[in-house]
Amino acid sequence: MEQPQPSAEPQSPPGTGKPPLRVGMVGYAFMGAAHSQGWRTAGRVFDLPRQPVLAVLCGRDGAAARTAADRLGWAAVETDWRALIARDDVDLVDICTPGDSHAEIALAALAAGKHVLCEKPLANTVDEAVTMTRAADEAYGRGRLAMVGFNYRRVPATALARRMVADGRLGTLRHVRVAYLQDWLTDPGFPLTWRLRKELAGSGALGDLGAHIVDLAQYLAGERLAGVSALTETFVRERPLPGGAGSGLTAMPAAGTGTVTVDDAALFTGRFASGALASFEATRYATGRKNALRIELNGERGSLCFDLERLNELWFHDATDPGAEAGFRRILVTEPDHPYIDAWWPPGHGLGYEHTFVHQVRDLVHAIDEGRRPDPSFADGLQVQRVLAAVEESAGKNSVYTPVAD
Ligand SMILES: NC(=O)c1ccc[n+]([C@@H]2O[C@H](COP(=O)([O-])OP(=O)(O)OC[C@H]3O[C@@H](n4cnc5c(N)ncnc54)[C@H](O)[C@@H]3O)[C@@H](O)[C@H]2O)c1
Repeated sequence: MEQPQPSAEPQSPPGTGKPPLRVGMVGYAFMGAAHSQGWRTAGRVFDLPRQPVLAVLCGRDGAAARTAADRLGWAAVETDWRALIARDDVDLVDICTPGDSHAEIALAALAAGKHVLCEKPLANTVDEAVTMTRAADEAYGRGRLAMVGFNYRRVPATALARRMVADGRLGTLRHVRVAYLQDWLTDPGFPLTWRLRKELAGSGALGDLGAHIVDLAQYLAGERLAGVSALTETFVRERPLPGGAGSGLTAMPAAGTGTVTVDDAALFTGRFASGALASFEATRYATGRKNALRIELNGERGSLCFDLERLNELWFHDATDPGAEAGFRRILVTEPDHPYIDAWWPPGHGLGYEHTFVHQVRDLVHAIDEGRRPDPSFADGLQVQRVLAAVEESAGKNSVYTPVAD
């Protein structure tokens, strides 16, 4: 493969002295707002080699897109993502739409010579993800990078956990225990938004929450799942149709009902290549749990424990400590030698959810500047998609153990 060549750089944005990275973003609701925060902030906090420029925002309704662009800080607006990709003042396309459009937009953007950041899950099917990964490999040969947005790798505490696992602090890994719990579907009157329709979302809690925890578990463990055994369930099969504005978690019901065509919850066990065992739970019905992503890793030499609802903390048990003093201790992950923290606030002045998107931009801009494949790549997104497919296959066969395809 050819080595990536740096792209011809346009003029520096005023006042920065740095070449710009001009971003075009598709979709401006939940993730669009979170990514905007990342693009706006990263160059003001971190010393980046290129200055992100919020160049063009794409939404299908021109007036609404213009209002969103003004609120979120974007200069221009397009109403068709094809027009956004055709612009020569866009270097990178950021895809913040539901999964049914990820493949089409990413393939067109890579073919047009743009870098791509694509929200998770990478695609709605393994076939789409395979095609996207091939296109990303080919684009890499032309110096264009493609990253998938598994932002939970970029919580300082999870990045520190990865560092500790890689440093051997847990020794041989035995267990990975993960749950991602939300409760926004417990009301059967909640409407049938895109997340509940297979043709738009690909799958339900599995692709939405399960994709995150599969990626995070494999990232922290430093290895991949070999096979899974799964149960899935759809608890409420008929829901009111959505009405009015709002496609996200605050959508309102209208007249008429439709059928839910995705899972509401997915439970699965898995075996890592090394023989370590894992358990996963992804649900939108865990009453009282809002965004509780909990992961625990147990190794021969110690354990690590993290909860996204307390994201500045990492719990560590060092099994090599003398027995009388051993026990889980809380690491407050706000020290300057913790990942990402040196650019932020003094110790103890914590970070939050939005910072993961700032860190995502930081890492992507450095990768682009260095012509280095970003983590997680489309290949990583494809592998997660293969785990999700194995989960669905296993659940469809009474939980029979199903290998994850290579
Ligand atoms: N990384 C995370 O933590 C995280 C969290 C939530 C969602 N996501 C992912 O982000 C993606 C978007 O989810 P969301 O919660 O932002 O959804 P959302 O419903 O809040 O927003 C989707 C946006 O896409 C727009 N859109 C849809 N089709 C379009 C098209 N053809 N052209 C232009 N715009 C279009 C909608 O109008 C809306 O603005 C999904 O893939 C989802 O899985 C990731």
